[in-house]
Amino acid sequence: MGNLTQRTPSLGLSLFSVVAISAGALMAFHGYLTPGELVAMQGVLLGLSQSISDVADCYPQLVQAAAGMQRIDDILLEVPQINDSSTADVMPRPSRQIEFRGVNFGYTDEKLNLLDVSFRVPVNTLNAFVGPSGSGKSTILNLVTRFYEAGSGTVTIDDVDVRSVTQLSLRSHMSVVFQESFLFNTSVRENIRVGRPEATDSEVEAAARAAEIHDIVLAMPQGYDTLAGERGSRFSGGQRQRIAIARALLRDPAILVLDEATSALDPVTEDQINETLLRLAKGRTVLSVTHRLSPVAQYDRIFVLKDGRVVEQGPHAELLQQNGVYAGLWNKQSGFTISKEGDHVDVTVERLRAIPILSKLDPDLLKDLVSDFITDRIPHDRIVVQQGDLADKFYIIVRGQVGVSIRNDDGTERKLTTLQDGDYFGEIALLRTVPRTATVRTNGECIFLTLPREKFSKLLERAPEFRELLSRDYPA
Ligand SMILES: Nc1ncnc2c1ncn2[C@@H]1O[C@H](COP(=O)(O)OP(=O)(O)OP(=O)(O)O)[C@@H](O)[C@H]1O
Ligand SMILES: [Mg+2]
Repeated sequence: MGNLTQRTPSLGLSLFSVVAISAGALMAFHGYLTPGELVAMQGVLLGLSQSISDVADCYPQLVQAAAGMQRIDDILLEVPQINDSSTADVMPRPSRQIEFRGVNFGYTDEKLNLLDVSFRVPVNTLNAFVGPSGSGKSTILNLVTRFYEAGSGTVTIDDVDVRSVTQLSLRSHMSVVFQESFLFNTSVRENIRVGRPEATDSEVEAAARAAEIHDIVLAMPQGYDTLAGERGSRFSGGQRQRIAIARALLRDPAILVLDEATSALDPVTEDQINETLLRLAKGRTVLSVTHRLSPVAQYDRIFVLKDGRVVEQGPHAELLQQNGVYAGLWNKQSGFTISKEGDHVDVTVERLRAIPILSKLDPDLLKDLVSDFITDRIPHDRIVVQQGDLADKFYIIVRGQVGVSIRNDDGTERKLTTLQDGDYFGEIALLRTVPRTATVRTNGECIFLTLPREKFSKLLERAPEFRELLSRDYPA
């Protein structure tokens, strides 16, 4: 578009010049114009064409800038849903507890996404919210931070309703770290300072030191002046999260809110950052949403959500004993050992037995099958299986998250569900060659254990009774 708007006027002008100069020359020849007037006219024409082409050069930028301004305008004109009342107080630093009492909440009128949620969290404790995708974990955080307000019931901090204080004072006590952190294409220093714009350079560096990113930044040629690159592309995922943690710490928050803050990272980096977070949690209240359970085993309290309700709560050991939803989630994620480099996974026979299609296999054969599994590490946003492709492998997600979607007849994609640590898919591929019924795409780096059909078929040759059983349980 830019080239077209630039070329059109200059082409038009050139044509016009050809005509004008030819006509001028003819008129001068016949004595209607003096040669001096002809030269003057050409001078004016040259100046005019230069000016027009200058304007044409700017035009594409102007059009783009106008579109950008329109978007900024749209955001500025957005009417906030959450407003402070005229009598709103300033919220003092939390010193006792955060409490939900009979909270019901729905994003829309059609459906409640939180149902009668009640719990209490003392300050300076570590708290985790776990449960299946869509169960309402992030929604709880949205109500604590007051990005949304409870429909009925109350959310209080030290018995003060969060709706009765100013949003500014409430949020001054909180920092939030999400799964993906946005870095601006400016210096590391300014990226951290986003947390508290008036912070001094030494405060920024202290926060970076606490988030254990200081040495890495110093090792870069430009140190704290290093530009982060478009969306922080100069840094690895783990480094980006550390910068985001430094940004969060700069506010010295009483409440640290983490929404899957480490779940998109590779296992080694994830463990390291979780250790950092545990150190930083001292003297703060941590509310952490995560689908990965091993780090929360040492938390003070775990809340298990299901369909918008808190169905279990307590420390890890207690919840395991209850043998309920949490124990089920825990067992699903147990039984895998990932090598330090993350390139090899060992799985126990007991874990394999929990997968229905393998559950009736003879113990000795199941033991042999363990070594037939292949570890497969797949980066973020890759297609793992494509709808319609012929299936030849069974997948277990050892860690990571995938989105499952199907293509509608009109070509649009419809998201079906999210699968994560301990889930599996494609078991029919072990039995017969059929097209995949859905597309599976990684959402963050994933580690899979895969079992190719030819390995499974070899095993079946040694177990005719099991083959019989399968053909009955999984008829074609
Ligand atoms: N802005 C929104 N508008 C409408 N519905 C929403 C919105 N955000 C979330 N929901 C719905 O509310 C429910 C709870 O969502 P929530 O984000 O709290 O789930 P979650 O437990 O955090 O899941 P995940 O593990 O996938 O992040 C889901 O059914 C979701 O579709
Ligand atoms: Mg969520």
